[in-house]
Amino acid sequence: MTEYSPEQIAKLQESAKRHMWLHFTRMSSYNDADIPVIVRGSGEYVFDQYGKRYLDGLAGLFVSQIGHGRTEVAQAGARQASELAYFPLWSYGHPQAIQLAERLASLAPGDLNRVFFTTSGSEAVESAWKLAKQYFKAIGQPGRYKVLSRNIAYHGTSMGALAITGLADIKAPFEPLPAGGVRVPNTNFYRAPSFVAHDLDAFGQWAADEIERAILREGPDSVAAVFLEPVQNSGGCFPPPPGYFERVRQICDTYGVLLVSDEVICAFGRLGYYFGSDRFGYQPDIITFAKGVTSGYAPLGGMLVRDQLMEPFSHGGASFLHGITFAGHPVSCAVAMANLDVFEKEDLLGNVRANAGAFRSTLEKLSDLPIVGDVRGEGYFYGIELVKDKATRETFSDDESERLLRGFLSTALYDAGLICRADDRGDPVIQLSPPLTCGQQQFDEMEQILRSVLTEAWTRL
Ligand SMILES: Cc1ncc(COP(=O)(O)O)c(C=O)c1O
Repeated sequence: MTEYSPEQIAKLQESAKRHMWLHFTRMSSYNDADIPVIVRGSGEYVFDQYGKRYLDGLAGLFVSQIGHGRTEVAQAGARQASELAYFPLWSYGHPQAIQLAERLASLAPGDLNRVFFTTSGSEAVESAWKLAKQYFKAIGQPGRYKVLSRNIAYHGTSMGALAITGLADIKAPFEPLPAGGVRVPNTNFYRAPSFVAHDLDAFGQWAADEIERAILREGPDSVAAVFLEPVQNSGGCFPPPPGYFERVRQICDTYGVLLVSDEVICAFGRLGYYFGSDRFGYQPDIITFAKGVTSGYAPLGGMLVRDQLMEPFSHGGASFLHGITFAGHPVSCAVAMANLDVFEKEDLLGNVRANAGAFRSTLEKLSDLPIVGDVRGEGYFYGIELVKDKATRETFSDDESERLLRGFLSTALYDAGLICRADDRGDPVIQLSPPLTCGQQQFDEMEQILRSVLTEAWTRL
């Protein structure tokens, strides 16, 4: 089925090339090639303007948990726009934000009972750092402003979130960034230092202890928070080793540092639980969320905050001096409620838990390919690390990586009908994060497309 006429297709391309500025995109790569245009979605699949179907192996951008084309969620947004399209959360409430806040608090672990809404993940991270700073000033510890986060971790693009992000290349053009971002090792066991490379428990202990060493090095009185994802996305899905978060929680308690669980990707079923911290059994002081809270039917983000952090703001003249016009937008909140209704009705968490093992074992079949070094992840969230030499784990040179990922893989996977991500912000990886409705049929489709494209990639090296 052709979705658009040839004239419409030509016009869209012309306008896109003339007027669009795509995010994190080398625009020059479209000088002689078409900009991919997606026009429609249905379930786990999306369609381009020619009617060609693609398996959405990345849920858009780790977003579309319930899949595409859910009219009941769209209608919830439309109803809300007719009833009350907009009102701010600056000194007012509206029923959708109130009900959603209560629902999120009831799903979140422990006493994370306060919800501060934003419109995005970066704003959620930014808000968490600002809250940590103002909170410590309010309780008489004004020296605490630094934030620890892990190497190669992505926490967003606004200046504060970028200072927390651990990717030197995307920070460099914007230096100097706000002061206080400090890096610690991540939990990439495949690339563990040699003295812990053969013992996952010891590796986890070492990686957590590095957080303590960083706090001591920086001065405990200057550290406000540690920002960690339950499973680190950037670099290609690094799950935490056993005991890692238990030790991190201990360290944070010892030095009075806040533990922020950045769950912009890992919440809302990605790991088979509403929150990633539930999956790994730790209690954060703040959870940041976005993406899957609405499955992308409208933009929304926020942070869930422990009661204790609200306390200094709950009397006298105190207020958290921070706000965002569209945060907790009524349409987005109504959509989030309808999205969570789908989670419940269809037991999507149950689906992920029941099928996560099959997803893993289907992807692990790819380990027989010479280019596949490591298959790692959790739930419906996987990274496949590509290597030049499996035995030595040698990675590709910058030039090879450029030719392999940008020159071939990204386009070849898309042409073969799979949307996923070929990323070289750490070592080269393919990332998968499909809608939570997927089952064996989609796992097999991903495996088959990856097998044929990765086999071809190897012959081109
Ligand atoms: C862990 C994490 N934090 C923050 C962000 C930033 O979210 P946004 O793009 O909505 O600003 C992302 C985005 O992918 C993320 O993965």
